[in-house]
Amino acid sequence: MFEHIFNNIQNSGIGSFLGKQNHLLGAIAELLHIAGLILLLASLLVTGLRLMGWGLVSLSVADLAKSTSRFIWLGLALLVISGLILFVPAANIYYPNKIFWFKFQVLLLALVAHFTLYQYVTRSKQVHLWVARIAALIILGLWFSVAFAGRFVGFF
Ligand code: HEM
Repeated sequence: MFEHIFNNIQNSGIGSFLGKQNHLLGAIAELLHIAGLILLLASLLVTGLRLMGWGLVSLSVADLAKSTSRFIWLGLALLVISGLILFVPAANIYYPNKIFWFKFQVLLLALVAHFTLYQYVTRSKQVHLWVARIAALIILGLWFSVAFAGRFVGFF
């Protein structure tokens, strides 16, 4: 269904340009992808563990979420930019890859959960501990699934 779109992306000017670059560019993009992943998951993990009541309890959830927010967005920005550098010159390879599609479906769910559930539990003053715990498990589960799926793409 989207095959021609993937084909157009790979054969576009930017796709051809990136495809002609030295392997070093791909290696740097992979490193930036991992750096973004660490920033994103580490920030979410800190807030997630606090939501579960497993540490940093001297800080409020709201303060912690506020301090980690910039690292979450920086991590995501790095992931998107480096991810596109990896994806665009090889789009046709990824089109038939089921894990690639799974990764982006879960990424969409993770973003929806971030803008709804995560905002709710980190901003509301009166959240029951078990609601916060379940929310943290769902949020971390989704983001870690994106990361695991990303790692698995190359094996399928
Ligand atoms: C627009 C966003 C993104 C794009 C376009 C993208 C694209 C890619 C591509 C093309 C690869 C290489 C796959 C391969 O050939 O093995 C990759 C790897 C990977 N991605 Fe992403 N990605 C994005 C976001 C994310 C996010 C949000 C995460 C984690 C939360 C993530 C985690 C990973 C991981 C762990 C790898 C494996 C890295 C490695 O084995 O060196 N990606 N990504």
